[in-house]
Formats: sequence, C-alpha cells, structure tokens
Amino acid sequence: MIKFLDLHKINARFDTPFQDEFKDFLDSGHYILGKGVTQFEADFLVYCGTKYAIGVSNGLDALSLIFKGYLELGVLKKGDEVLVPANTYIASIIALVNSGLKPVFVEPNSSTYNIEPLAMEEHITTKTKAVLVVHLYGQLCNMKAIDYLCKTHSLLCIEDAAQAHGAEDDLGVKAGNLGDAAAFSFYPSKNLGALGDAGAITTNNEALAQVIKQLRNYGTSSKYVNDRIGVNARLDEIQARFLSIKLKALDADNSARRQVAKHYLQGIANPKVTLPYYDGAKDHVFHLFVVLVEERKKFVRYLNDNGVETGVHYPIPPHQQQALKTFSHLDLPITEKIHERCVSLPISPVMDAADVDKIIDLVNAY
Ligand SMILES: Cc1ncc(COP(=O)(O)O)c(C=O)c1O
Repeated sequence: MIKFLDLHKINARFDTPFQDEFKDFLDSGHYILGKGVTQFEADFLVYCGTKYAIGVSNGLDALSLIFKGYLELGVLKKGDEVLVPANTYIASIIALVNSGLKPVFVEPNSSTYNIEPLAMEEHITTKTKAVLVVHLYGQLCNMKAIDYLCKTHSLLCIEDAAQAHGAEDDLGVKAGNLGDAAAFSFYPSKNLGALGDAGAITTNNEALAQVIKQLRNYGTSSKYVNDRIGVNARLDEIQARFLSIKLKALDADNSARRQVAKHYLQGIANPKVTLPYYDGAKDHVFHLFVVLVEERKKFVRYLNDNGVETGVHYPIPPHQQQALKTFSHLDLPITEKIHERCVSLPISPVMDAADVDKIIDLVNAY
C-alpha cells in the first residue's frame, strides 16, 4: 500500500539528532519555555524574515492569540467583520468565532482555490476591519491584490500560514511576512511538522508581539505578575527543539515536494481529473496535491483497491458543518463544488519516484 503520508519515514531521517536533543533536554531539567523555545523562535523569525516569532501550542491557538492580541490593543473590537475564505479548514473560522469576531465567507478563485480578491471587495462594509487569508494547500494567495485592497480600505491582513511554511513570492518574501501577523501550525503532517502539537506567530509589530507573548503565558509580564487575562498556550520545549532540527531541512523538503508535484502535473492526463493550478514558482510548497473528480467515492475506491491511500481536504465546507449552522443559509457554489470533488494524492519529501509513477499510471488508467 502506498501511504497517503508516511510520517515515520519523514521523521526517521532525524533519528540521531532527535535522540541527542532529547538527551540534552532531559539533562537540562528545564522543561517549559527553556532554551529550546528561545532558540526555535530565533531560528524561525530569521527563516520567515520577520522581526518577531512567538512559539505557541498549536495553529488554532496561534490564530486565536493574534485576534486576542489585536482586541487587547484596541485595534479590533468584538463584532468586527473579518473576510475569510469559505473553503478553509474550520480552524480559521473557529478562531474568529471564539474571538467574538464575525467571519464573512468569501468564495475562492475557481482555479487556484485561494480567496478571490474581486469577491473580497464585494463583501467589504464599514464594519470590515481585517482579512484572514489562508495559503491553502501550500500556495500563496494573490497577495499583491490583497495588499492593495487592505491598504485602500485600511484593513489588517492576517495570514493563516498553517499549510505554507517556506512558500515565497517573486521577491523572495516568505509566508508569515506578507501581512500584519501570521499563524503557523506545526501539526505533524505539516511541511514543518513537530512530533506533537505546536504552532507559532510571526509579525513585525512589536506591540502585538509583546502582548501575544504575555497572553500565551497567562498574561504574565514577569514571574507571577499578570497584566492581562491570558491562556496557557506555550510552545512545548521538546517540540521546539525538534522543530529547530527539522527547520534546517524545510527548503530541501519543499523542493522535493515541488518535484513530486511537477511529476504529477506532467504525467497525469485524464479528462476526468482536474489538476491543481501551479505557476512553477516557489510560491507553492505543495502541502497537499489536490485534484478534483466528479465521482469522488468511486475514484477513491479505485485508487485504494489498487494500493494507493488518498485524503480529502476537506469533505464538508465550514458553512455546512453542524457547529456553524448559523451560516448554513449561505450559497457558496465554488466552495461547495471543491468540497464535493476534492481528492488529495500522496505527496511528501520522502516519496519514492516509483510510487509517484505508479500513481500517475493508475490515475491515467481510471
Ligand atoms: C489552514 C489551517 N489553519 C489552522 C490549522 C490549525 O492548526 P492546528 O491543528 O495546529 O491547531 C490548520 C491545521 O490543521 C490548517 O490547515
């Protein structure tokens, strides 16, 4: 069976440095917010090109802390509207709802599946104060158009970069440094994945960075001094140490992912299968390789019967989830079509070329 994602194979490459790091961690006796978190934050801000990086517990908390930070600073207030792609992973929406902000669902571009700037413009009202863009499947949104929109309408631009570690625009600016603040997830399956839950926030805004640093640790400004009502959303020390090791391999891993994607794009030619849009640049790090097919169940069963695991990202759009039933009246045909038809083919930095060839042949024979 070709696995959808072989996490053991991905991480086995770091066996020795992980074991050494764990020994150092164990011997340090310092298990919360120690030198591992400080080091990873220093490494990650350099990688992203931002002034600040704050390690947190996961991607959802990273998003929530950005919004909580802006609320604390008085830059946002409860009830403000935030534009968000309708076809995102539900975490983006949950972060807004839990922060007392109003998500305004915007349709994606029908070829890139990323939020469509023209559609965003139609949803801007006097209550719109921010946009939450999601670089879905690893591909950067149309940031030039979004930047223009944000400047014209004085909107904050928050990036959900959970799927786009290392993606960069034509000037070499990376995801995480393309807006006012960005949230990353290091969930194990991500391009930069921990061995458990982890996340980070990047920003160039000093005031926001300081507030978030307090908020992630009970609102603490110094030991046992609490300036704000915060949460416990600290990045775990051992995960930080593992992440610093894996960060060194991220660019090579992203190149390997792009290679797999290029093979698929060159090799797959089946009118029943719509391939993802890719312009050939480093603006895509192929967290996922998502194709559209009309009869998804049949296609998934066919591949599975022939020894290939697949994924679906995601089967139900957020506005049709029971948890978000207040949005169920929305009519979002592009989003709904993507969710009905999407299938994720295996992609990772450790895939065998023979497996990629086998999948191409199978898809073409479907
Ligand atoms: C687009 C997006 N946003 C947010 C998250 C939330 O990250 P986490 O699972 O680390 O909370 C994820 C990850 O699953 C994601 O894909």
